Amino acid sequence: MTYLTTAIDYVNAEPHIGHAYEKIATDVLARFFRLVEGPEHVFFLTGTDEHGAKIQKTAEAKGIEPRQHVDAIAEAFKRTWATLDISYNRFIRTTEPAHYALVSEMWRRMREAGDIYKASYEGFYCTGCETFLTARDLDESGNCPLHNAPPTAVQEENWFFRLSNYSERLRTLIAETDFVLPAWRRNEVLHMLDELQDISVSRPSSTVSWAIPVPDDPDQRIYVWIDALSNYLTGVGGLTDRDETADKIFNRFWSPDIQMVGKDIVRFHAIYWPAMLMSAGLDLPLHVFAHGFITLNDAKISKSLGNVVRPADLITEYGLPNADPLRYYLMRVTPFGQDGNFTYESFRNCINADLSNNLGNLLNRTLTMVNKYCNGKVPDAAPLPLDTDMGVAQVRAHYTAIEPHAAIEAILAQVDAANGVIAREQPWALAKEGKLGQVASVLRTSLETLRSVAIQLSPVTPRLSRGIWQQLGCDPAAFDALRWDDIEEGELPTGQAVQQGEPLLPRLDDELAGAAVKKAG
Ligand code: MSP
Repeated sequence: MTYLTTAIDYVNAEPHIGHAYEKIATDVLARFFRLVEGPEHVFFLTGTDEHGAKIQKTAEAKGIEPRQHVDAIAEAFKRTWATLDISYNRFIRTTEPAHYALVSEMWRRMREAGDIYKASYEGFYCTGCETFLTARDLDESGNCPLHNAPPTAVQEENWFFRLSNYSERLRTLIAETDFVLPAWRRNEVLHMLDELQDISVSRPSSTVSWAIPVPDDPDQRIYVWIDALSNYLTGVGGLTDRDETADKIFNRFWSPDIQMVGKDIVRFHAIYWPAMLMSAGLDLPLHVFAHGFITLNDAKISKSLGNVVRPADLITEYGLPNADPLRYYLMRVTPFGQDGNFTYESFRNCINADLSNNLGNLLNRTLTMVNKYCNGKVPDAAPLPLDTDMGVAQVRAHYTAIEPHAAIEAILAQVDAANGVIAREQPWALAKEGKLGQVASVLRTSLETLRSVAIQLSPVTPRLSRGIWQQLGCDPAAFDALRWDDIEEGELPTGQAVQQGEPLLPRLDDELAGAAVKKAG
C-alpha cells in the first residue's frame, strides 16, 4: 500500500509552473508505484487549501464572497491538473463538510490530550505565509524575508498548541529516522527544534472569519495550518466510522508513505504535523520529501512580477499534443530535491534533443526499417545486448529513491545504446550485403528497447509511452494493465505488425510559441 500526498494549494490565484512541478513529481511517483504494486494499492491525494486571511482578502478585493471565489479557483486547479494528466485518486477541498468534521475531531483529540490551552498572543503575523513570526524571523527592515513586506503586529487572545511537549520525540524522529527527505535537509529541520515554542492555533473570528470555527468557542477560528494539514486525514476518509467505505480506505492507507511538499513549508510538515498526530494518537507519515523551487528565467514566480505562465497555456502555445513534454522537462531539468530554473530555451532544447531526436528518431527509423526490411513485422530474432550499465533495475531503484531525473537519465542511456547499435551495425549496409539475419537482430534490439523504454518512461510521459506502444503494434488496452515486471518478463510477439504513424512529438520551434510564452520569455 502506498499513500502519496502533495501540499494543497492556496486558492488565492491560479496554478503556475511551481505548483505544477510538485503535482507532476508526485504523479510520476504515483504512476510508478501503480506499475509496481497495482493501481488498487496506491492512493494519491491532492487538493486545495481554501481558508484563511489571505483568501478572505483576495475575495474581498474582488468584491465577491469567499465561497464564490474558492469555487472558481478550485475548478481552475482541477482543470489544470486534468490537462497535465495528474492522476490523483481524490481531490480534497478544505471547505468540504467532511473536512470540517475531521478538523473538529482533531481539535477535540488534541484538547483531550491536554495540548490545547488559551493564552494571550503578542507578535507578528504574515498573511502571505499564513504564519506567526517572531522578531528573529524578520529581516533588518522588520519585513517578512519571504514576502518582503511588513507583517501585521497582533495582540490576541488565542488558543495554543503545546508543541514544546513534543520537542524530544520530534528530535528522535528527525535525527534517527529518514522521516525528512532528502537526507541533506535534516539538519535544517533539526535546527528548527532548538527553542521550540508553543504555537497559536486559532485567531479571533473578528480578524479571520473565513475559517473553521473552534469547537465550543464561536469567537475563535482554527488557524489555517491546523485545518490544512488535517486534509491528509480527511482525504482518506479519516477518523470517522459513519461511512464504512471511507473507513476502509483509511484503514488500508493511513499513514502517508511520501508527503511531497515544497522546501518553504517543511516546518509545518516536519514539526507541527507529526506533533499534531502524536497528540491525537495517530500513526505518523513515513517520509516528508521537501522538493526545491522552480524559478522562471532565474526569477521567482509571482503574480506581482507578472511572470506567471499558466502551464496549460504553455502547452497550447507550443502546439503540443499533450503535457508530456512539460512533465518530462520539469522532471529532467534539475536533480529532484534541488531548485531548478525553467527557461524556454532549455525547454525547447531538452525536448528536441531527448524526445524528438533521441527517442523519436529511434522509433521512426526503426519502424521505417522494419517496414522496409521485415515486411512491417517484428522479426524473428534475439535482441543484441546493449552497451550500457543502465538497466531496468537501475531505473526502478531511482524512481523508488525519489530520483526521477536519474531514472530518466538511465532510460536515456538505454535509448542511446540502442541508437548506438544501429550506428555501429548499419542495418541498411547489412541489407545490401543480404545479411538479413543480422538486420533482424539489430531491429529486434531497437524494437525491444522501445517497448521496454515506453513502459519505464510511462510514469513521466504516459501519453508518449502509449503512442510508442501503439506504433509497435501492441494493443492499447493492454498498456493500462502493464506492470513493472512485464518489462523484463514480456517481449513483443514475433510477427506482430508494427503501426508506424505520425511522429509522436513535433520539434519545438521558437516561432510556434505564442503570447504568454513571449511575454515571460
Ligand atoms: N496551502 C499551503 C500548503 C498546505 S499543505 C497542508 C501552501 N500553498 S501554496 O499554494 O503556497 O503552495 C503549494 C505548494 O506549491 C507548496 O508545496 C509550495 O512549496 C509549492 N510551490 C509554490 N511555488 C513553487 C515554485 N515556484 N516551485 C516549486 N514549488 C512551489 O503552501
